[in-house]
Amino acid sequence: MTQPQIAVDKVSHVYRPPRGRPVLALEDVSLDVQPREFLALLGPSGCGKSTLLYLIGGFLPVERGAIAVNGEPVKAPGPDRGIVFQHFALFPWKTVRDNILYGLERQSMPKAERLERAQQFIDLVGLTGFEDSYPSQLSGGMKQRTALARTLAFDPSILLMDEPFGALDAQTRHLMQAELLGIWQRTPKTVIFVTHDVQEAVYLADRVAVMSARPGRIKTIVDTKFDKNDAGVFKSKGFVDKVDELWNLVRDEAIKAERHK
Ligand SMILES: Nc1ncnc2c1ncn2[C@@H]1O[C@H](COP(=O)(O)OP(=O)(O)O)[C@@H](O)[C@H]1O
Ligand SMILES: [Mg+2]
Repeated sequence: MTQPQIAVDKVSHVYRPPRGRPVLALEDVSLDVQPREFLALLGPSGCGKSTLLYLIGGFLPVERGAIAVNGEPVKAPGPDRGIVFQHFALFPWKTVRDNILYGLERQSMPKAERLERAQQFIDLVGLTGFEDSYPSQLSGGMKQRTALARTLAFDPSILLMDEPFGALDAQTRHLMQAELLGIWQRTPKTVIFVTHDVQEAVYLADRVAVMSARPGRIKTIVDTKFDKNDAGVFKSKGFVDKVDELWNLVRDEAIKAERHK
């Protein structure tokens, strides 16, 4: 048994807003992710998916339980973990190119190489020609692609992705899914991918963790290994049945979440 790359052990998280009651967002969540694994997180809105990613990313302090990455407790964000936020976090005063270069500044890479690398990822996400545009000049989908390029460009071994394709139109979404899979197959990366889209989860992931309504827990983990290079996989019985099974699990939780509102 190899050491899991990400080990989440009995983690709970409480938000304490300055006004109002504390919110128990996560309760007793345990999850191991192996090196190079692609894990999707599914669950109703508000069940704590983003909270779990922020904790693994080191953006929120771990107050109950423990999170280790490569055996080391997570204390802060680090270059080993790249996060793509649900709401693209771009610098509005920087161009597309400069937003992407920003992530590369900490690396000891000659300037020319950084520029080349930035361009490579601009091309990859289909933003060629928009290098000098500012975020305010871009559509939501283009902003999200810029954010994705920025994270991919510094080549973290762990990708934490929070509904990264949620704002994209269907066609761009499929292109980006294929690109992400290509990158994941070519370079050793561990991915945790939050999505609302059951089909996307089953297609992309090796395993899908379904979270329960608040307080979020891991309700069940389902194996979803399908041949990602098979164009007909979406129509195969095994795939369709797996999507169905997961839909039912998620729907039950969504109904519970509605009742407790
Ligand atoms: N800063 C915050 N203060 C108080 N409650 C919060 C805060 N952030 C998130 N929450 C609450 O914690 C729960 C989990 O949120 P979140 O992790 O964003 O869920 P998800 O990503 O699954 O939609 C939700 O009920 C949300 O309202
Ligand atoms: Mg979220």
